[in-house]
Amino acid sequence: MRVQVAIIGAGPSGLLLGQLLHLAGIDAVILENRSREYVLGRIRAGVLEQGAVDLLDRAGVGSRLHAEGLVHHGIELCFESVRHRIDLSELTGGKCVTVYGQTEVTKDLMDARAAAGAKTVYEADAVSVHDFDGDRPKVRYRADGGAHEIECDFIAGCDGFHGVCRKSVPAKAITTYERVYPFGWLGLLADTPPCGDELIYVNHERGFALCSMRSRSRSRYYLQCALDEQIAEWSDQRFWDELRRRLDPAAAEALVTGPSLEKSIAPLRSFVAEPMRFGRLLLAGDAAHIVPPTGAKGLNLAASDVHYLSTALIDHYATGGFAELDAYSAKCLRRIWQAERFSWWMTKLLHCFSDEGAFGRKIQVAELVHLINSRAASTAFAENYVGLPY
Ligand code: APR
Ligand code: PHB
Repeated sequence: MRVQVAIIGAGPSGLLLGQLLHLAGIDAVILENRSREYVLGRIRAGVLEQGAVDLLDRAGVGSRLHAEGLVHHGIELCFESVRHRIDLSELTGGKCVTVYGQTEVTKDLMDARAAAGAKTVYEADAVSVHDFDGDRPKVRYRADGGAHEIECDFIAGCDGFHGVCRKSVPAKAITTYERVYPFGWLGLLADTPPCGDELIYVNHERGFALCSMRSRSRSRYYLQCALDEQIAEWSDQRFWDELRRRLDPAAAEALVTGPSLEKSIAPLRSFVAEPMRFGRLLLAGDAAHIVPPTGAKGLNLAASDVHYLSTALIDHYATGGFAELDAYSAKCLRRIWQAERFSWWMTKLLHCFSDEGAFGRKIQVAELVHLINSRAASTAFAENYVGLPY
């Protein structure tokens, strides 16, 4: 088999790239090692920057997002048991974010791909990438009991943090930067109305909490937890009781509890691999970088990478030139490091760090007081939260 672009991974990065290339008449196949149902069953982030919404519109998959997504003009920060609103729109000349689950984005992209008749191989085993330092890269995999090989012009490594593409690059060609945080997030999804109209980010001495949502009747909550925490030890009741203790009295009062649909623990990590292009292998999304979820940037960075990558590939097939592909890595990384900085800073501001002690907590509160009282500081926060320009 021969295609122009072989995409590894059917997460948001791979599916969005596939759709943008399809619309440009570029032929691509997607290889995914999990099943469609498994990919759709993963509960992930839920906040889209305007840039990501615009890109999904351009990809022709924006209609359900506009019908069902919730437009948020502000967020709330809670510390010392008092909530303070940051008016994102007022501070950024009208920008906002849209709350719409990554699961829904993924489903819309899968449906569009199926409607376009574009090929995705799910449950592809032993995917491996070859010869990307030359002109004729190849991808090999196993499926339906047989071995397969695809010859292509480019390989797009959209296979997430644990994928095969980044790991296939010779160690001397890649530099990685990493910070692992000494705690995780325990997440709970429930069919209960959210406790507020907007997201609430909570700094509390018992640990960070976040009140988010998927719709007016589905809530998503998170609690900072220890890394060795066992999910079996967290009954729904224990989760709700702990969340209530970390909220301000009005939000605690408004909290509607119910049976969980999903509960999971995720570690927090900052990670960047440089560069993102190795000959004819190009990395995008979580394959190249991870942010802690505090700033809601993971999915949005995947979208901006895919914007740059699709533009570069479309330019290459139109002109035969490599200028945009040569610029790909640097363009992505400039924006990625901005989001890395913001996500790291928000994580430091809102979580309990046991090694920082009482002094560290006082400094956090001082910074939060400055953030809500200084228009300059609130504006800097709002600019980053709604998303820096592409
Ligand atoms: N071969 C084929 N597919 C693979 C392989 C492999 N060896 N390894 C991983 N994959 C698949 C995964 O099963 C997954 O479906 O690649 C896909 C990568 O998808 P994501 O992890 O969702 O990464 P990405 O598409 O870049 O999306 C980034 O996901 O983790 C969140 O916060 C992150 O919201 C961000 C978004
Ligand atoms: C979510 O809804 O899952 C969510 C929202 C905001 C974040 C992180 C996660 O910062």
